[in-house]
Amino acid sequence: MDVVRQLLLVLHIIGIGSLLGGFLTQMKGMKTGDVRINPAMTHGALTMLVTGIALVGVRQADDLDVDNTKISVKLAILIGILLMVWTNRAKERVDVQIFGAVGLLTVANIVIAVMWT
Ligand code: HEM
Repeated sequence: MDVVRQLLLVLHIIGIGSLLGGFLTQMKGMKTGDVRINPAMTHGALTMLVTGIALVGVRQADDLDVDNTKISVKLAILIGILLMVWTNRAKERVDVQIFGAVGLLTVANIVIAVMWT
């Protein structure tokens, strides 16, 4: 199961790259309001959800520690991100504050993942 967990973690990190990459490459447009939720962001957010839940399952199956509080906070933040990206995905332009919140919450989840011990 260790290889499965490692592969899921690789996909989890690819998901971060997709979600955050979709945000970072458009940051310049935040000045003019020329920003949108692109497919990289929606697919990245969905990848985070699927791989995150699968990682919890594999860790439990392997009798590895799962910090339920930390996972609940990460899940709640991701649900917020998903709601914002999903409801705005078809818009030509998305509200800059919503767009900024998606980037900020993604970074918050990275900080929580790495620094919450
Ligand atoms: C935007 C959302 C998310 C981001 C940016 C994120 C980020 C990360 C990062 C950077 C790691 C590697 C560092 C570590 O091992 O702690 C990680 C691991 C992990 N994440 Fe996430 N995560 C997100 C959402 C989720 C969700 C929603 C879940 C569960 C429902 C989840 C479950 C896990 C688990 C279980 C690990 C540990 C994997 C292992 O080492 O076995 N993540 N996450």
